[in-house]
Amino acid sequence: MFVSADEMLKKAVAGHYAVGQFNINNLEWTKEILLAAEEAKSPVILGVSEGAGKYMTGFKTVAAMAGAMIEELGITVPVAIHLDHGTYEGCLKCVEAGFSSIMFDGSKYPIEENVEKTKELIKICREKGMSLEAEVGSIGGEEDGVIGAGECADPKECKMIADLGVDMLAAGIGNIHGKYPANWQGLSFETLDAVQQLTGDMPLVLHGGTGIPDDMIKKAISLGVAKINVNTECQLAFADATRKYIEEGKDLQGKGYDPRKLLKPGADAIRAKVLEKMELFGSVGKA
Ligand code: G3H
Ligand code: ZN
Repeated sequence: MFVSADEMLKKAVAGHYAVGQFNINNLEWTKEILLAAEEAKSPVILGVSEGAGKYMTGFKTVAAMAGAMIEELGITVPVAIHLDHGTYEGCLKCVEAGFSSIMFDGSKYPIEENVEKTKELIKICREKGMSLEAEVGSIGGEEDGVIGAGECADPKECKMIADLGVDMLAAGIGNIHGKYPANWQGLSFETLDAVQQLTGDMPLVLHGGTGIPDDMIKKAISLGVAKINVNTECQLAFADATRKYIEEGKDLQGKGYDPRKLLKPGADAIRAKVLEKMELFGSVGKA
């Protein structure tokens, strides 16, 4: 079944690599990410946004589907199922639905309120053996309706939240959801370094993993990033492969319109993309 992300991320900090969180949208996404993790012998985190949870009819359906897949596919590597950018109410729903990990995105609240709500969720997570991710500063851009201003985190606020006992911390360091604009200034390693100095061994989370150059990813890992979130890049890989299949007229040949055939190139592309990221993050063989 699922594990909390706590142990896999502590190991990642100690081993100087990062575990990928890959967002899921449906059965194909979930299956390909799980198969990639098994092939790579890598721990993995399945990310579920509130929007994707709704799309899949609800968090209970998502947890039941992913849990059954782990069993029926014979997945042996550690798998966490994690609410991505959750509201306080969304976090409570995922606790009830059997998730093993949640992110409370309290970045829109004043720090005092973020602290209070985070404390309450820590208590619940401890009781349930779940892991909790908190966010300080904000991730720029938009993901599934969650819009962030993109301001860099205040390292002292990061320490304040880390000291509450969260399991992982997402600090805004100039990262952006979706495609990076041509005039992007890059990650603020100065902020990341300052956050790490104050938070010690706390696993740090890098959101907006799509399109960050490899050398920046490696530098971020060297500065304590132990979890990297990737969403858009899998969507782009799926869309490109599906478009190619249709543009080549393969949906019109034989039974190429059968959804199991129509979705296969996109599904294969997701698996290849996840394997590529696991290699880059250094998590291959770490399960
Ligand atoms: O929370 C999920 C992510 O931060 C993914 O960002 O869509 O830019 O890869 P991305
Ligand atoms: Zn994110």
